[in-house]
Amino acid sequence: MAEKVSTSYFLKRPRDLVEISRVGVIGAGAMGSGIAQICAEVGWKVTMYDAFQESLKKGDESIRDFWKKGVERGKTTIENVESWSENISLTSEISIASRGMDLIIEAVPEKIELKKSVFREIEVFAPEGALLATNTSGLSISEIASVTETPERVIGMHFFNPVPLMPLLEIIRHENVSEEAVSLAKKAGESLGKTAIVVNDFPGFATSRLGVVLGNEAIRMLAEGVASASDIDTAMRLGYRHPMGPLELSDLVGLDVRRDILNSLADAFQDESYRPHQMLESLVASGDLGKKTGKGIYDWTSGDKVER
Ligand code: CAA
Repeated sequence: MAEKVSTSYFLKRPRDLVEISRVGVIGAGAMGSGIAQICAEVGWKVTMYDAFQESLKKGDESIRDFWKKGVERGKTTIENVESWSENISLTSEISIASRGMDLIIEAVPEKIELKKSVFREIEVFAPEGALLATNTSGLSISEIASVTETPERVIGMHFFNPVPLMPLLEIIRHENVSEEAVSLAKKAGESLGKTAIVVNDFPGFATSRLGVVLGNEAIRMLAEGVASASDIDTAMRLGYRHPMGPLELSDLVGLDVRRDILNSLADAFQDESYRPHQMLESLVASGDLGKKTGKGIYDWTSGDKVER
């Protein structure tokens, strides 16, 4: 549960590191920047790449902001923040985030063709021994690995938002992955203070499949008028002890992200019951993607969650 996560943060994180010391992170969105942050905190040298300068800047700011708040909350010190800062560099050249790295973690948007093109590119620059990981929430790891010459070192390493506070790492193995890659991914997760589970390469893995179905059903219930958004969320928070309701969580993760996962599940299982509800489609179409755009299921523009 959330309170357990938070108390262990910074305090009990293991410090004995695996062989990995240089990490490239591809994509500086919420996930990429969170991953870069935790790598920097355990002393790894991280190079964060994004094709867009604006995203790179935003990702970097969100890391600094988290650390600043951490100092204010007495969770860490200015000295720690200074030393972590030195571990992060930014680049808009994918080759720079790939050359000389021990581990490269891709965290670009959930579009299979985009992910495949990233893997084709990073493989050209990555050292032979580097582990190549994708943070996809539910796309086929096997399909992503298939575009490389070395699928045995391609693996799923699925982190959760907000990355610094969430204790799970979902490792996804596929038919051609090597045991060394699985064990290195597990060790990397442990070094980052995460609890790793290993799952097989099924669409949506063990987490997203359940998570998005819950969110989609909550949206259907909202559209049907079962209850208000905040009452549906309260139902799951207090009735089921979820740290966050499914609707506010959808806004946190991003409605576009959730919509894309639902569509990929519907396609992969050939089951229309996974398709995003019309209300979710409409919100995405109107650019209301959740917290990141100010509006989603809720209105977040005031800084607080307001029913729409
Ligand atoms: N620096 C250091 N510590 C910080 C911090 C900071 N900047 N910000 C927060 N913390 C610490 C707090 O101090 C607090 O610790 P203590 O309990 O020791 O005081 C703890 O983190 C929690 O912070 P808050 O009290 O501010 O927030 P909260 O208790 O409301 O928890 C949450 C926030 C962890 C996000 C919680 O609401 C939660 O677990 N929500 C569910 C999130 C979730 O389900 N994520 C998965 C999404 S799906 C996904 O990501 C998959 C995908 O592929 C899309």
